[in-house]
Amino acid sequence: MSVTKEAILAALSHVDDPDLKKDLVTLNMIKNIQVEDTKVQFDVELTTPACPMKDMIQNACVNAVQHFVSKDLEVTPNMTSRVTTNRQEKEVLPGVKNIIAVASGKGGVGKSTVAVNLARSLADSGASVGILDADIYGPSLPTMFGLQGEKPGQVEGKMEPLVKDGIKVISIGFLVDENQAIVWRGPMASSAIKQFTTDVNWGELDYLILDLPPGTGDIHLTIAKQVPVSGSVIVTTPQSVALADCKKAVNMFLNPNINVPVFGIVENMSYFSPEDQPDKRYYLFGKDGGKEIAEQFNLPLLGQIPLVESIRTSGDNGTAIEKTETVKAAYDQLAGELARQVAITNSVASLSN
Ligand SMILES: Nc1ncnc2c1ncn2[C@@H]1O[C@H](COP(=O)(O)OP(=O)(O)OP(=O)(O)O)[C@@H](O)[C@H]1O
Ligand SMILES: [Mg+2]
Repeated sequence: MSVTKEAILAALSHVDDPDLKKDLVTLNMIKNIQVEDTKVQFDVELTTPACPMKDMIQNACVNAVQHFVSKDLEVTPNMTSRVTTNRQEKEVLPGVKNIIAVASGKGGVGKSTVAVNLARSLADSGASVGILDADIYGPSLPTMFGLQGEKPGQVEGKMEPLVKDGIKVISIGFLVDENQAIVWRGPMASSAIKQFTTDVNWGELDYLILDLPPGTGDIHLTIAKQVPVSGSVIVTTPQSVALADCKKAVNMFLNPNINVPVFGIVENMSYFSPEDQPDKRYYLFGKDGGKEIAEQFNLPLLGQIPLVESIRTSGDNGTAIEKTETVKAAYDQLAGELARQVAITNSVASLSN
């Protein structure tokens, strides 16, 4: 049987990326086609290693080649990825493809916990990830990564981020005593955050996560102005007081003066299931509040994370959640949804440029 590369490409042009709504060939995602007798191999370059539809696209490629070329072919798509970016201006953080701010109107809803677990899941998927603690007055990342008391090094006048579990981490907590930062005035806090973007050697990153302080105050406006944020993720609990503040946060980012896209809403502490009754769900803070806000603003609901003791203990102990736990799967799914929204936003922007 003689099979040409053109025939393979023609077959694959019948497979669409469900998010980008175009076929894989037009999207230039098919690379390195190799044909040897009945064996066909090619690379499928996805827009993120965390792509939730990886398996579906892989199966669709096999089916398309077997259907349009020959059912006797042994088809092996190698799923690879190259994370896309929408950044034009590259003066600040030149090697960073996507900068994602994790915010909330209300304090204590789980921003830092979501930010850290998003970073972990994205890194587990194979992406290069950094996380910047923008909460100057209440830095959480040293504890949440188990890096208390560690100091970043300096190379050629630039600060080197600490690296934990493959993730680059910077926090004011590594530099000054916590009590010292707390008395800083606004401009000092803002300039510290600015320095974290200009004077830190972040290198090449697919995703840089910013863990923001609570609220919608001056410091948020400064960050939105000084840091080229690609988009934001808003965390809320389903409780009505949190929802009111969540709306403020969404409106702040969407305000024309700020104009930062909102990738979606994360509903945290959505429900509690006792360990001995995993099928029971108690909606301690109300049900689906985050989901309803997402619907109101026509934004994606990126995920609903349950209230689970191991989420708290992993944060307090600075360790990753065990791979075997179902909450790890919930965070992986959340990271996949976020990466997907980032890729869609980048693709829409590249089409309109
Ligand atoms: N899904 C969850 N299940 C159990 N505990 C959680 C969950 N999410 C967060 N927590 C716990 O709730 C507390 C607050 O979370 P976290 O520090 O992430 O909130 P935050 O929004 O960053 O707070 P702040 O506004 O002070 O920055 C922490 O003790 C954390 O471990
Ligand atoms: Mg926090």
